[in-house]
Amino acid sequence: MLPIVEQSRLILSKSIESKQKSSLGQYFTPATIAHFMADLFLKREPGTCYLLDAGAGIGSLSAAFLDRWTSGGLNFDSVKLDAFEIDQSLHPFLHQALEQFQQVAHFTPVIRGTDFIRAAANWIAGNLFAEALPKYTHAILNPPYKKIRSNSIHRTVLRQAGIGTVNLYSAFLALSILLLEEQGELVAIVPRSFCNGPYYRSFRDIIFERTAIRQIHLFASRTKAFKDDDVLQENIIIHLLRGGRQGKVIISTSTDDGFDDLTLRKHPFERIVFPDDPERFIHIPTSSGRTALESYSKIHYSLSDLGIQVSTGPVVDFRLKKHLRKMPVADAVPLIYPVHFNGNRAKWPNDSIKKPNAICHNRETEKWLFPKGFYCVVRRFSSKEEKRRVIANVIDPSEFGNAPLLGFENHLNVFHDNKHGLPQALAVGLSAFLNSTPVDEHFRRFNGHTQVNATDLRTIRYPNHATLILLGKWALEQTSLTQEMIDRKLEVLAS
Ligand SMILES: C[S@@+](CC[C@H](N)C(=O)[O-])C[C@H]1O[C@@H](n2cnc3c(N)ncnc32)[C@H](O)[C@@H]1O
Repeated sequence: MLPIVEQSRLILSKSIESKQKSSLGQYFTPATIAHFMADLFLKREPGTCYLLDAGAGIGSLSAAFLDRWTSGGLNFDSVKLDAFEIDQSLHPFLHQALEQFQQVAHFTPVIRGTDFIRAAANWIAGNLFAEALPKYTHAILNPPYKKIRSNSIHRTVLRQAGIGTVNLYSAFLALSILLLEEQGELVAIVPRSFCNGPYYRSFRDIIFERTAIRQIHLFASRTKAFKDDDVLQENIIIHLLRGGRQGKVIISTSTDDGFDDLTLRKHPFERIVFPDDPERFIHIPTSSGRTALESYSKIHYSLSDLGIQVSTGPVVDFRLKKHLRKMPVADAVPLIYPVHFNGNRAKWPNDSIKKPNAICHNRETEKWLFPKGFYCVVRRFSSKEEKRRVIANVIDPSEFGNAPLLGFENHLNVFHDNKHGLPQALAVGLSAFLNSTPVDEHFRRFNGHTQVNATDLRTIRYPNHATLILLGKWALEQTSLTQEMIDRKLEVLAS
C-alpha cells in the first residue's frame, strides 16, 4: 500500500519550491526509512492504539505504521490517528494515503490542519481554549527542522508548556513525549545536533527524565538518508519509551536507507551518556569497545584539572565593524580568523583574504583582546570535505608582528590560561593532541555535525600537563609533522 505515498513523495520532493521546503521543513520520509521506523515499535497487547503523527506531510510514516498493523505486525483492535499537518495543500495526499486503511480495518484518522506546536503546547499548559488531545500510545514523526526565533509565538507557547528549546524539531519531539501516556512509545527521525551542545541541554533532560532510550539508528552517510531532497544533515532515528526503565541501548547503523548493511549492538547506558558528564551528551558508539582515547591510561584529565580554559573567540566582527581594518595600521592589533591558517603555519597579515587582518586597540575593543602569547586555537566550523572535525593550530606570537595584544575572531575556539597565553610547549602539545586521530574519532561519537563548540572541547579528557609538554617538545623538534607521527607519539606517551 505504501507505493501511493511513495509516488506522491517522489513527485512532491521535486515540485515543492525550495523556499517552502525550507520554511516548513517539507522533507518527506522515503518508504524504506518509514518502514524501518514502523518496525521499531514493540508488539503489544490488543487494545486501541492512539497514534500521533506530528507534521504528517503526505502520510508516509502513518502509512508505514498502518501497513505494519494491517499486515499483522501489531495486534491492536483499532487505531485512532491524529495527523497534524499545517499545510492544507498536502491534505488531499494525506487523505489519499490514509483512506485505504479505513477499508480494511478499524481505523479512524483525524487530519488536523492546526499548528502542532500551538495546539500541543496550549493543551499541555492547560489553556482554557485548548483543543483537547488524547494521551497517545504511539507517536511517529519526522518533524520540520528550523530555528525558533526568540521573539516568535512558538517560543512563547513552548515556554508556557515548560519547554525551552531552540529548534522546531526538538520542540515537536519534546511536546510529543509529554503527550504520550506512560509506557507510550515514540519513534522519530531527527538531526543529530541535540546529542551535544549547550542549547539542547534542557531538551536532553526531558528525554532522560521522561523516557528510556531503547534504540538509536545512525546513518553512516550524511548525504544518503534523504537523497531525493539533498538533505545534508546527519540524521538519526530514535526510539523512546515513556516512563520506561533505562536499560541497555541498541545502537544500529546502516550506510543509507537501503539498510543492506544493518548492524545492531547493545551498549550499557553509561557508554551512551557518561555518568561524570555534567552536560549529559548522548554518545553514539559505532563499535563495541572503548575509543582509543578512552583506552589510553594517561588520558583522563579535564581542562580544569589542567588549569586551562577554552572559550569562543570573543571578537564578533559584525558588532565591531567600525574598529576593523583590512591591513595593520598604527594602534591596531592582529585579528585572527581561521583563514589565516593554511596547514600548520599562520600567514598574517594576508592581503589576499576577504577578512580584515587587524582590529583597532581602544577602550571599546580592549575587553575583547588577549595579551600576546602562545595559544592553541580550534576552528569552530570545518568543511564537509575536511578529513578531521577537530582542527587545531598554534598561535606563535612571532608570526603576528610586534603588537602587544591579539584579537581572536568568533569562528575560533581559544585555549588560554585565564585569558593569557600558555607555555609554548603546552600550546604545541595541546594542538598536537587535538589533531590526533583518537581525538577525532572520539569526537565523532557525540558530535554529528561539522561544528566544534567550546563545550565539546570541555567534555573531552586530556593527558596531564607533563605529557602534553613532552608531546609539545617533541613536536617542536620535528621539521614536519604527519598524522601518523602524531598518532604514534601519542600512543607511546599516553598508553
Ligand atoms: C520533515 S516534513 C515530514 C513529513 C512527514 N512526517 C514525513 O515523514 O514524510 C515535516 C512536515 O511538518 C509540517 N509542519 C511544519 N510546521 C508545522 C507545524 N507547526 N504544525 C504542523 N505541521 C507542520 C510541514 O508542512 C511538513 O509537511
